[in-house]
Amino acid sequence: MCGIFGVLARRDAVPLLLGGLALLEYRGYDSAGLAVLEEGGALRLLKSAGKVKDLCRKAAADAIRGRPGIAHTRWATHGPPTDLNAHPHACGGRLALVHNGIIENHEVLRREQVRRGCRFHSDTDTEVIVHELDRCPRGNGTGLPPRAAQEVLGRLEGSYALAILETGNRRLLAARRGSPLLIGLGCGAAAGEYYISSDLAALLPLTSRYLVLEDGDLAELDEEGARIYDAAGRRVTRPVTETRLDPASSDKGPHGHHMLKEIHEQPQAVRATLEAGLRAGVPQAAPWSSGDPEETERILAQVRRLHLVACGTSYHAALVAAYWLEKHARLPCRVDIASEFRYRDPVVEERTLFVCISQSGETADTLAALRRAREAGYLATLGICNTPQSALAREVQLLFLTRAGLERGVASTKAFTAQLAALQLLSLLLAKARGRPWEATARNLERLPERLRESLRLEQRIKDCAATLAAADHILFLGRGLLLPVAMEGALKLKEVSYLRAECYPAGELKHGPLALVEPGVRVVVPVLNGELLPKLRTNLEEVKARGGEMLLFVDPRTGLEDQQGVRVIHVPPTEDDFQAPLLYAPPLQLLAYHVALRRGTDIDQPRNLAKSVTVE
Ligand code: M6R
Repeated sequence: MCGIFGVLARRDAVPLLLGGLALLEYRGYDSAGLAVLEEGGALRLLKSAGKVKDLCRKAAADAIRGRPGIAHTRWATHGPPTDLNAHPHACGGRLALVHNGIIENHEVLRREQVRRGCRFHSDTDTEVIVHELDRCPRGNGTGLPPRAAQEVLGRLEGSYALAILETGNRRLLAARRGSPLLIGLGCGAAAGEYYISSDLAALLPLTSRYLVLEDGDLAELDEEGARIYDAAGRRVTRPVTETRLDPASSDKGPHGHHMLKEIHEQPQAVRATLEAGLRAGVPQAAPWSSGDPEETERILAQVRRLHLVACGTSYHAALVAAYWLEKHARLPCRVDIASEFRYRDPVVEERTLFVCISQSGETADTLAALRRAREAGYLATLGICNTPQSALAREVQLLFLTRAGLERGVASTKAFTAQLAALQLLSLLLAKARGRPWEATARNLERLPERLRESLRLEQRIKDCAATLAAADHILFLGRGLLLPVAMEGALKLKEVSYLRAECYPAGELKHGPLALVEPGVRVVVPVLNGELLPKLRTNLEEVKARGGEMLLFVDPRTGLEDQQGVRVIHVPPTEDDFQAPLLYAPPLQLLAYHVALRRGTDIDQPRNLAKSVTVE
């Protein structure tokens, strides 16, 4: 969603701000802007609806220069994406700020401020923060006193990450509550520089060293250094982390889009994730602990049921895992969408492990679900996450980090298969803890990355099939058993990036309603496993065919299904292993979504209206 970038340096901040914004684009946004202090110390703002390249054009035409500076990509919530609603927001030329999050009491504050005579220039909730801060008493020539600013921020309800710039004061303030914010520390020739970013990806070209602000923190950055104050106003230090992420991981390489690059990175993402959880082929408890492996083992040995909670693609990973956990560990599993779970009053049975899954670790609903779970009497909370510096990673009791690396396509691909790999490890760990067989399945995991590569080799055939789907206006996905969540994920991917209406149903539900949609020419996509459900699925396929539906089947060659009138078949690498199957069928469906979208000319890496991490409810 929205992105924040700020630069405190002795050089012109504008190119660095624009570079930072370009790296935040993948989060999804619809306008952008920046503010700097010009030579004489006056505040200068530049804003533009549309893309960062539009802002770059304006900046070049304007020849704007200055330091320090703050910048923002806005994903519209309050008010349409216009120049006026774009951040930074300023008032009276004294103060400008950029904001991520939502101020829930903005209407009340706005009414009070209007009564006081404040004038508003935008429809945003953010503008009330500017007016509140502007009231803070300041000394002559000094900026906002940190403690006074914190007291003002204490009046805000909701969430915020903020970067603040003031006239005549070569200093930046950064504050957060409920929205992520990092401070990057310049190194080498850039020592003494500070960067503010809502996302690690934007820091990578400038520095690998950063610290994460905690909720309630306010950081004051100037030429003398960085001073951080916690929610109570005490001066604190926050640990400095050195990331090993390669700045080049932000590039598309030879691929046209991040999504395609990331689809092809899956063998590596799965390999790295599996390697993190296994030693000599044996699943380990240590990588799931937040410090004490023995405590982790003790917790895992007590688990009697699991409750998995997530959103979107991560929810689909949880649905797949429920099959594995039931089969291999013989543990009952419940799976919930986080936005639903967070408002329920769950009945928590004894010794239930709460598992939340999130690529970003910043999804608002998943975090709210986790916070609710912490109060609800679960045995423990466990997170599976791809972002070590995220709130989720810091708030769960047990944590496993997937090793997918930076994922920049809004459509999640490699993070999904890495989550599946992590959930396989969890299933085996729990099977082992419960004295159930795990060895043969663990041995097979070794071959998984190579088998994934086989699956990716289907790209050309998939590309050939994409043309007919691209011309459709509605696509039905069907699935059964283990491949039902994979089909659901295929439908989500297709709708996200191609904007085609794609729905998925359990094939057994066809006659209960969706069959009414099938008429000559309707496109139906089905992943087909060679297993005990095959005869059932064949019957469903006949039902579709009899009504003129045109099918694209991803099948195990041993099913005997072949191309025929109205049916196109793509052979997926055969497998009998229930751990392998979802990982072999998911990439072809991702490739299908990608190539259909490519034909339709959509904005594949930043689909309209969507954001990479959904940090507001
Ligand atoms: O970061 P998270 O895994 O918590 O994100 C959850 C969903 O927002 C995410 O998976 C979304 O559905 C993706 N755009 C799917 O491709």
